[in-house]
Amino acid sequence: MSSPASPRSTWSNRWAFILVTIGSAVGLGNIWKFPYMAGSQGGSAFVAVYLICVVLIGLPLLMAEILIGRRGKGNPVSAMLNVAEETRSSPWWGIVGWVGVVGALLILSFYSVVAGWIVDYLIKSISGFRVETAEGASAAFKALLANPLEMALWHTVFLAMTVGVVARGVISGIEKANKVMMPGLFLILVLLTLWGGIAGDMGAAWDFMFAFKAHDLTPGVMLAAVGHAFFSLSLGMGAIMAYGSYLDRDSSIASTSIWVAMAGTLVGLLAGLAIFSLTFAQGLEPAAGPGLILQTLPLAFSHMPGGQGFAIFFFTLVLFAAWTSAISLVEPFVAWLTERLGIRRPLAAWGTAAAVWILGIAVCLSFNIWSGYTLFGLNLFELLDFLTSRIMMPLSGLAIALFVGWAMGRHSVVDEMQLQGKAFEAWYRILRYLAPLAILLVFFHALGWLG
Ligand code: PHE
Repeated sequence: MSSPASPRSTWSNRWAFILVTIGSAVGLGNIWKFPYMAGSQGGSAFVAVYLICVVLIGLPLLMAEILIGRRGKGNPVSAMLNVAEETRSSPWWGIVGWVGVVGALLILSFYSVVAGWIVDYLIKSISGFRVETAEGASAAFKALLANPLEMALWHTVFLAMTVGVVARGVISGIEKANKVMMPGLFLILVLLTLWGGIAGDMGAAWDFMFAFKAHDLTPGVMLAAVGHAFFSLSLGMGAIMAYGSYLDRDSSIASTSIWVAMAGTLVGLLAGLAIFSLTFAQGLEPAAGPGLILQTLPLAFSHMPGGQGFAIFFFTLVLFAAWTSAISLVEPFVAWLTERLGIRRPLAAWGTAAAVWILGIAVCLSFNIWSGYTLFGLNLFELLDFLTSRIMMPLSGLAIALFVGWAMGRHSVVDEMQLQGKAFEAWYRILRYLAPLAILLVFFHALGWLG
């Protein structure tokens, strides 16, 4: 017999939390961004720094963010303020919540445009789209980038899909779908990697990703990899804090975080192996930039037995993964509007969507009509990505490490973390010393302040 208070119900809660958090973490970051970043940022050097950062900085910070969310019980701004008040720290820490909430919306503006590309390719696949040559694949992607209306349409559709869920607060439906879609995504990536082994050049892909070449390791590559570790684990943007506030006290923050970090990393590595083995075999360029997977994969699907069906499944699952991540990008701000200002949820959600939509339209234009408008040589899309992944996320991560490591006080941290012995000490020391120092070093190094 199982009563609501039996251990069994606790487990199922914990798994539900793990699933939504994996839903937030696993998304375009792992499938779209990781391969193209690795491809254009030195391959194995990027991958090595990324993996080290996930384990040494990302995972401990994931735990710290869940911890703040659960203790502060509220949207990221309130959670930071609540914990700061409880531990008699300065209310200025609330700024960290704000950086996250605003950063998440900035990310969403271009995330939604890229998810729109996936919608576009899904529709194309359904209508029998094929490309025969590498040139054909590149031309098809370029044609999409040159068409602001088409991009704007799919951006609008994707944003509406996302906000529709947040407006109704029906995270539970997604939670159920997640149970099927996430394993589905994983399976299709395994199949794709196997196909990469059959039809592609797995040896070259392996070399490119794992044969470490120290000369590729520049400060810029290091900052890109640190930033991507944050991006792929949804760190520093309030998303994890917002979800952490729903976690019950019996669940272990540490093991939950390990699951999430493993899932995200594995998806990225599988996607990378599959994509690079096909990229090399097809004579495409690994440094193709943001269009990498949308050039490599359609070409591979066109030559695969049952490729059309496979493409449809693949793009559907990627879209789903993007959707669950996008929801976690809107939720923090909408939670703040409803909890703090008392605005009704639908109004809060659609109002937020309107602002993000406008910025997203500007992103669509930055690939074509407005591509001449640049700042530091970056167009709006690149600028938003740079600002969020390489500046806001690392700095917000730094602040979270300092908050939990120094400001909160050991007593509250021990009480909330429920981790004992050496594991706790190691984690706590990482937050106090290693993570802040590492982030600062990489940051200043990349800015050229350390020579
Ligand atoms: N982690 C998500 C991805 O990899 C993106 C994301 C970043 C989601 C920050 C929420 C917060 O696609």
